[in-house]
Amino acid sequence: MSLTKTYRFSAGHRLYIKELSEEENFRIFDTCSNPNGHGHDYYVHVKVAGDIDPESGMILNLQELDETVNIVIDELDHRRLDIEVPYFEVNQPTGENIAKYMWERIKPDLGDKLIHLKLSETSNSYFEYYEEDNYPYER
Ligand code: NI
Repeated sequence: MSLTKTYRFSAGHRLYIKELSEEENFRIFDTCSNPNGHGHDYYVHVKVAGDIDPESGMILNLQELDETVNIVIDELDHRRLDIEVPYFEVNQPTGENIAKYMWERIKPDLGDKLIHLKLSETSNSYFEYYEEDNYPYER
């Protein structure tokens, strides 16, 4: 049994490698290296799995899930990630790294129940993070 909840945040970022010139950064990151940054409306789909608790009828308490995920959402929402969030000052704020960061921030609270995290960055791109053992979500 699994359950997925969707959360949303907006954030800005710039992709660039400090050691490279503007031209080289543009070649690697294209318009994502725009010096003034740009923004996205991100959607995060958090999938948890487990047995149905006979008493509550649920896999886990949804309020606890919201509290856990909202801690990291609050860290990122309306931020310029590469400037304001220490993790992304040293790791490129790509969709891949944002998905990985969110996974690592919520995993300690959700434990084995967390099996999949999907981050939508644009209408035609999304990133998925999961542990290989859990794919395709068999529990
Ligand atoms: Ni971008």
